[in-house]
Amino acid sequence: VTLEPCNHTGRTGPCAQALLDAGVRRVVYGQPDPNPLASGGAAMLAASGLSVEGLVLADGAEQLNDIWTRAMQLQRPFVTWKVASTVDGRVAAPDGSSRWITSLAARAEVHELRAKVDAVVVGTGTVWTDDPELTARDHDGVPHARQPLRVVIGKRDLPSHSRVLDESFETVHLRTHDLDAALKALFERDVHHVLLEGGPTLAAAVLAAGLVDQAIGYIAPALFGGGTSMVAPLPVRSVDEAVRFEFDDVRLVGGDLRWSASPGSLVTDGLRE
Ligand SMILES: NC(=O)c1ccc[n+]([C@@H]2O[C@H](COP(=O)([O-])OP(=O)(O)OC[C@H]3O[C@@H](n4cnc5c(N)ncnc54)[C@H](OP(=O)(O)O)[C@@H]3O)[C@@H](O)[C@H]2O)c1
Repeated sequence: VTLEPCNHTGRTGPCAQALLDAGVRRVVYGQPDPNPLASGGAAMLAASGLSVEGLVLADGAEQLNDIWTRAMQLQRPFVTWKVASTVDGRVAAPDGSSRWITSLAARAEVHELRAKVDAVVVGTGTVWTDDPELTARDHDGVPHARQPLRVVIGKRDLPSHSRVLDESFETVHLRTHDLDAALKALFERDVHHVLLEGGPTLAAAVLAAGLVDQAIGYIAPALFGGGTSMVAPLPVRSVDEAVRFEFDDVRLVGGDLRWSASPGSLVTDGLRE
């Protein structure tokens, strides 16, 4: 197995006990269970007299499960922040219009990503301004088989006619600004991967709290000059205080540029120079 058999009763019983009950004599696994609640299966099986060999191709096994692994280590959902902007970092024009900044191809990729994550998160501001559906749909507008939980964070009521409140798929409205509590509530619902698609206010709050684990941006070859900046002001006063990322991929999608990055703790002073 790729993952150490668990030693924990969740929605199902402990896998280690099931292996014992089934009379299995030898267990070979790749990745040790990173979930402190569920680990210990290998030791339990070894203590019960089975032959147990762990860490076989462990790196590869972990890569198969990388987002889940990070979520278990963090004990909160892994957060991917996605933003679509102009070259000058604007997410809406001076008149508030924002549809569509990026190409059909870029938007189709985002819909595919939505179908892979467990939840899509926005702030109340985005619901009031854009009235998004927050579903994963194909080119013809047909919903994908797998849909993320739709999550809105913020204290304001939502307009009663909001599309996120339609009956099609589930929506959760978390009336808080406490981001740790919000992520904890989602984790308790088995949400392991969150796609943050909110506007600049929520993005800045999540960035400032150090809760962005991955950033994905689509940059359209366009300039607004004015309008809404992709992040609201951060607690940054000088170059030294910048929130830094490290790019890990850049490519063209349709006519747009897609970048992805990880938090920049690995960016050294040497690289900055
Ligand atoms: N291009 C893109 O990728 C993209 C994506 C989304 C939105 N947008 C654009 O962004 C604009 C909307 O911006 P926005 O900033 O109002 O949207 P937002 O960031 O989605 O929502 C802002 C709201 O989030 C709530 N919130 C929850 N936790 C918070 C916290 N810890 N700190 C502060 N606020 C928190 C607050 O709601 P309460 O006041 O209710 O408490 C706040 O007013 C629109 O023009 C939209 O078109 C662009």
